[in-house]
Amino acid sequence: MKKNRLVIVGAGSTYTIGMIMSLIEEKAQFPLESLTFYDTDEERQAQVAEATKVILREKYSELKSFHYTTSKQEAFTNIDLAFIQIRTGGLAMREQDEKIPLSHGVVGQETCGPGGMAYGMRSIKDMIELVREIRHFAPEAWVLNYTNPAAIVADALQRVFPEDKKILNICDMPIAIMHSYADMLGKEVWDLVPSYFGLNHFGWFTKLEDKQGQDLTPIIKDKIINEGFKPTDNEIANDESWKKTFQQARQMLIDFPDFLPNTYLQYYLYPDQLAAKEKMDNTRARQVINGRQKRVHELCDQIIKNQSTADADLEVDVHGIYMVKAAAALVYNLNEIYIVMVENNGIISNIADNAMVEVPALLTVNGLKPLAVGEIPIFQKGLIEGQLAYEKLVVDAYFEQSYSKALQALTLNRTVVNANTARAILDDLIVANQDYWPPLT
Ligand code: G6P
Ligand code: MN
Repeated sequence: MKKNRLVIVGAGSTYTIGMIMSLIEEKAQFPLESLTFYDTDEERQAQVAEATKVILREKYSELKSFHYTTSKQEAFTNIDLAFIQIRTGGLAMREQDEKIPLSHGVVGQETCGPGGMAYGMRSIKDMIELVREIRHFAPEAWVLNYTNPAAIVADALQRVFPEDKKILNICDMPIAIMHSYADMLGKEVWDLVPSYFGLNHFGWFTKLEDKQGQDLTPIIKDKIINEGFKPTDNEIANDESWKKTFQQARQMLIDFPDFLPNTYLQYYLYPDQLAAKEKMDNTRARQVINGRQKRVHELCDQIIKNQSTADADLEVDVHGIYMVKAAAALVYNLNEIYIVMVENNGIISNIADNAMVEVPALLTVNGLKPLAVGEIPIFQKGLIEGQLAYEKLVVDAYFEQSYSKALQALTLNRTVVNANTARAILDDLIVANQDYWPPLT
């Protein structure tokens, strides 16, 4: 089995330690020859990296080469894969993305609505530059991108690198939801075979089967209606905000019983209710800063100080495992099914070919082979087309530096609707993002 040379881009992230634990858990299925960390924030990365050294020494002694760098050349030379998980502007800008819409009575969310647009227009520039640099030093490397807002990033990358078949945009929300289905059924998440369609953070499971072909969908729906729905992956199981989000899936299923919804649809289907629940001084970014980020930094400090992981609370999570398994499927040609983003080209037959859709696909050494979805019903089609137009206009606004396209985008978004609200939010976002966005005229 050929071993892999991997770089993690954005290694200072609060998700990196979980990813390291996943690489250790999966080392027989996805062995590493070398691991490199790359980040622009030297200090933040060094803390995670120094803790990682200790973890690897104890749990992955076969791995001879681990180092971290802020040099792109060093990071991207001699690699087989890059995992990209950057957050342009950091959690501080995430907080702005959430507060600004909220100050106008609109849902403040990292990837949905105006916050998603703001974050998207920040991410695009860095992502294009990164992929260019990676391609310069490693033309053949697989790029697994889970940088948000993934729908907008995927669309922008598709426009700039249309011929590049080795970029995979992937999100962990579907697998996190499937983790909860599996636990409800007393099954293993990897034994569920999903049928799914939509856009990123905007889709539905139409069916879940087991590997023997038994349709489990009716049981899952019944259980959600009768017993409720909760997150079960350990990364989110005890998080109050995620618990509420999963609970809301029950209401969505009562209102629209055809398919099982992605949790993110709550922001588009109940925007007023969601906005009313949020608090200016305690948006999700604040919760992450005071919660996950603090926890991870303390954990790293403890490991570094003790030069040991004894007593350290280290767990794998489904996010990390999913990415590592997907990487293995690509490099070892496993032909396994993953839910990924891919250019539509008729997969969903009644929406535009150039949409970046999220659907199940076989992952192979020659790239993605998406499975046909066919025609989708009019309600979901209508919702998707509105959201797709919003996403396309955001990316247009970025490349054309167009104020009016940005205004059109926000007006189309279901979380906004009113043009005067869209304009007021846009004007505030422009001021807050002046160090990141292209100038819009
Ligand atoms: C899910 C989504 C990611 C998103 C994350 C936010 O995993 O798939 O795209 O970044 O949730 O979680 P947080 O706990 O930071 O709000
Ligand atoms: Mn996601």
